[in-house]
Amino acid sequence: MKVVVLTGAGVSAESGLPTFRDPDGLWEGHDPMTVATPEAFAADPDLVQRFYDERRAVLAQVRPNAAHVALARLEEHLGDDLYLVTQNIDDLHERGGSKRVHHMHGRLRAAWCTTCDRRHEWTDSLVGRPACPTCGQATMRPDVVWFGEVPHDMDSVQQAIFDCDVFVAIGTSGTVYPAAAFVHYAIGNGADTLELNLAPEPVSDFAQVRQGPATETVPAWVEEMLR
Ligand code: APR
Repeated sequence: MKVVVLTGAGVSAESGLPTFRDPDGLWEGHDPMTVATPEAFAADPDLVQRFYDERRAVLAQVRPNAAHVALARLEEHLGDDLYLVTQNIDDLHERGGSKRVHHMHGRLRAAWCTTCDRRHEWTDSLVGRPACPTCGQATMRPDVVWFGEVPHDMDSVQQAIFDCDVFVAIGTSGTVYPAAAFVHYAIGNGADTLELNLAPEPVSDFAQVRQGPATETVPAWVEEMLR
């Protein structure tokens, strides 16, 4: 049984990380076009760097939850038959024990030098324009995929969805493409589809929808899969 799991901000909400579009979400307090586009970075790099520095600092305070841990357990059992792709830039899947996580929108704890194109594990601030450890240039930016940029790993994600028997989306509003289209690719390839969400849309494209907090629905679903 080949399984593709797509996660969104909702899987990390109970760890204390805000989602984007919920009432207390990140996009309530920030205009995404001023902090999450290449144009915004060109216009005001300090504003953008501060936004991600703050998120990096919050990430250091939180821990993985039962949903992250359950998915790591599923990976242990399914091995390569589980393909985990996340829209999240946090590292809670890895800290929860997952070994193979595809971060299609990049990673918060990494910096990307736009001069030498090297990526570096990074937990500190970037607003001070630290020098790139490889080339020494002060041209590092957060290693995240901004609106208008191409997500990572799209070829392997599409192949995994093409091959899967089950496609599961956890804690995502399904409003941002290309991730929002994945369920349609899965349906088109005859896979079973399941959505786990605290507040799913009334009309869903998924064959099955389970409502509830990820820390409850994900361990229960994983238990079923393992049984
Ligand atoms: N358990 C399960 N689902 C939850 C929980 C929870 N505890 N809390 C919230 N949710 C659900 C919400 O109902 C919503 O459907 O998580 C979803 C969060 O949606 P968004 O805030 O839109 O986050 P996401 O879908 O990950 O956003 C996609 O948009 O802003 C960009 O690049 C950013 O990766 C992000 C992308």
